[in-house]
Amino acid sequence: MYSIETKSLSKSFGDLKAVNDISFTVQEGEIFGFLGPNGAGKSTTMMILTTLLKPTSGQALVSGYDVRANPKEVRQRIGYVQQETTVDEYLTGRENLILQARLNHIPKDEIDKNIDEVLDLIELSDKQNEAVVTYSGGMRKRLDIAGGLLHRPKVLFLDEPTVGLDIQTRRKIWEYIKKIHTEFDMTIFLTTHYMEEADQLCDRIGIIDSGKIQVIDSPENMKSAMGKEVISLVIENGEAQTKFIEELEKIQLVNKINHDNEKITIFASKGTEVIPKIFQISSDLKIKINTISLTSPTLDDVFISYTGHEIRDEGGFNRKKEHAKMKRLRA
Ligand SMILES: Nc1ncnc2c1ncn2[C@@H]1O[C@H](COP(=O)(O)OP(=O)(O)OP(=O)(O)O)[C@@H](O)[C@H]1O
Ligand SMILES: [Mg+2]
Repeated sequence: MYSIETKSLSKSFGDLKAVNDISFTVQEGEIFGFLGPNGAGKSTTMMILTTLLKPTSGQALVSGYDVRANPKEVRQRIGYVQQETTVDEYLTGRENLILQARLNHIPKDEIDKNIDEVLDLIELSDKQNEAVVTYSGGMRKRLDIAGGLLHRPKVLFLDEPTVGLDIQTRRKIWEYIKKIHTEFDMTIFLTTHYMEEADQLCDRIGIIDSGKIQVIDSPENMKSAMGKEVISLVIENGEAQTKFIEELEKIQLVNKINHDNEKITIFASKGTEVIPKIFQISSDLKIKINTISLTSPTLDDVFISYTGHEIRDEGGFNRKKEHAKMKRLRA
């Protein structure tokens, strides 16, 4: 049995296909991630899987139960940590967890024990009796995650677990997620628009863009499928650019080329042999190369190759979108 299984899952908001015919499976015990930019459909998929949104069409099973037919059974088996923090700032950490435990209908005689256990796991026992208003962003997130663990779910959903946190704090949260995964022996489904996060945490990744899954594989396979080496070029913009790329494509050992104005990325099996040829062509066509570098493929490269754009295109903070989202949430 799969922990998560979707079949042609779709969700439309008016004319917008936020989730467009998505099919994937997640094995028990896996850490699976959706990697995609703002508006890709990550949260919408997660809200369907956590029974908070009804799909327009298609099917989704979580822990073997259909989200539409058996939402209660699904909810009993999952933990869900939303993208936006949900803790109450004026309560203490422990009080927040008590509230969460009651909402989850955890039997009274188990509440204290479960809370102690998760506080210990995420190392917040020391601060549990202080108001959350005094907590750092990372501590709040950890408390959020603790809330999702109280009823010992089989499947944990983490929607952008480190969004907005600085890189050190993000790394620490990754350690906690790994620790939770091993100690609680659960399946984790997370979403992120951070390449490094997907790379560090996930056994497999689905790259999602405009409501569609572009590819699903392990980070390692994705990277090695790109070819062994990546040559990144920045050239002076000029008329000969198209011709330049045409000529580059003719080089043997070149697997694939992506270009975004003056930025050219070449995937090659033997970079050191390709570079002299690049210089030859640029010299013939009188194209000035500003920078050139040879690296191993990263998930960034994989993402560009499948979606045709960088994740940062629309990534980061989109004020207009955030406002629209807040408005929806308030309503
Ligand atoms: N309730 C709603 N009503 C109308 N449109 C919505 C609603 N919820 C989401 N959308 C739209 O659906 C698309 C997918 O949104 P979703 O929140 O799933 O993206 P996401 O991948 O989670 O992005 P982010 O990185 O910003 O969290 C977006 O274009 C969004 O504006
Ligand atoms: Mg989202």
